[in-house]
Amino acid sequence: MKALPILAALALAMLGRAVPAAEIAISCGAVGQELALCREGAEAWAERTGHTVTVVSTPASATERLALYQQLLAAQAPDIDVFQIDVIWPGLLGAHFVDLKTQADAESLAAHVPAILANNVVGNRLVAMPWFTDTGLLYYRKDLLDKHGAAVPATWQALTETAARIQAAERAAGNGRLWGYVWQGRAYEGLTCNALEWIDAHGGGTIVGDDGAVTVNNPRAAAALDLAASWVGAISPPGVLNYQEEEARGVFQSGNAVFMRNWPYAWSLVNGADSPVRGRVGIAPLPRGGPDGKPSGALGGQTLAVSKYSRHVDAAADLVLYLTGADEQKRRAIVGSFNPTIAAVYADPEVAAANPFLSGLADAVSGAVARPSRVTGKRYNRVSTAFWNAVHATLSGDGDGAANLAKLEKDLDRLRRGGRW
Ligand code: GLC
Repeated sequence: MKALPILAALALAMLGRAVPAAEIAISCGAVGQELALCREGAEAWAERTGHTVTVVSTPASATERLALYQQLLAAQAPDIDVFQIDVIWPGLLGAHFVDLKTQADAESLAAHVPAILANNVVGNRLVAMPWFTDTGLLYYRKDLLDKHGAAVPATWQALTETAARIQAAERAAGNGRLWGYVWQGRAYEGLTCNALEWIDAHGGGTIVGDDGAVTVNNPRAAAALDLAASWVGAISPPGVLNYQEEEARGVFQSGNAVFMRNWPYAWSLVNGADSPVRGRVGIAPLPRGGPDGKPSGALGGQTLAVSKYSRHVDAAADLVLYLTGADEQKRRAIVGSFNPTIAAVYADPEVAAANPFLSGLADAVSGAVARPSRVTGKRYNRVSTAFWNAVHATLSGDGDGAANLAKLEKDLDRLRRGGRW
């Protein structure tokens, strides 16, 4: 009876493996090329290690993905070993993940941009490893701006005017499907990012301040929302109120928009071999609120975490370290324009050549505005939900910015029971 395990151990040793192969399931996002690139990376790891890997696709909406994760993790389900986690979730979900400090060597930890790594530390536990970082960016049609003698808009007011002018001129010339500006207006986390950018650019703060105070009910924030509401049905299609990232990209990439707000992943796709606008797209920081405002792009990004309920924690952590390591981040930056979290990868000439915007946008990337997820911790999703609902109502013409933000302030103060989040 003892012969079998010994034979098995011998066979494994011959294959060069110390531990039996594990079957690891990894959840990946599904926006643009996310799923395909995740699968390629995970399969390359499986090939090297002899483990097997299953890639589980998740909803494209960050909000729906969070709801799915909350269900799985609350049930302590061992089905998924590695979770792709949004930068705003460590406080919400961190308790379900393994401390990766014990799994990663000091050198690979030190390679990541310190602030990006620090975002994953919850109560001294490193609950996820940085994978890529995101910033909201302005994509524009170089050819249309040139044709109409327009500059890249530096303020939101200028964007509003330029978009309206080019849209009107193009439509008059028979380009009936052209819109001025597409973005993410659906009631979900992406709208929180867009609206935070408008408000921050106007000097209206970050919804909740670093000290935990609710700051969103102010005239600059209200003016920013009212300006955005004026776009709907004018320079933006009415359907924008239901757009996520990929809907906006679909319109822009098929040639039907002058401007688009999106994350860096869209760069590789709008310039892909089959893209109708390939080579005709420029990229810039999002506009300022006004001449004395500042440009503002939301800070986003994704990380990888190992579930506490995994039956193969060591193999799962090994996969996480492989995917978040420099070689894989380089590949993803070149193929998919996913911005690395390892400083040395940015400096790589091949990465810079594939992403010419990276060097020009270094300030936009490092100065990105964070959502108030650290200060609101476990309540962040409720804060964000209340915020995007107030914004969506304003965009839909159901009350103006001032009225909806006054109501939002009351709701948020109620959520912040006893003055603490
Ligand atoms: C991107 C960002 C993420 C953000 C989401 C909103 O995936 O990386 O941080 O929450 O978009 O749609």
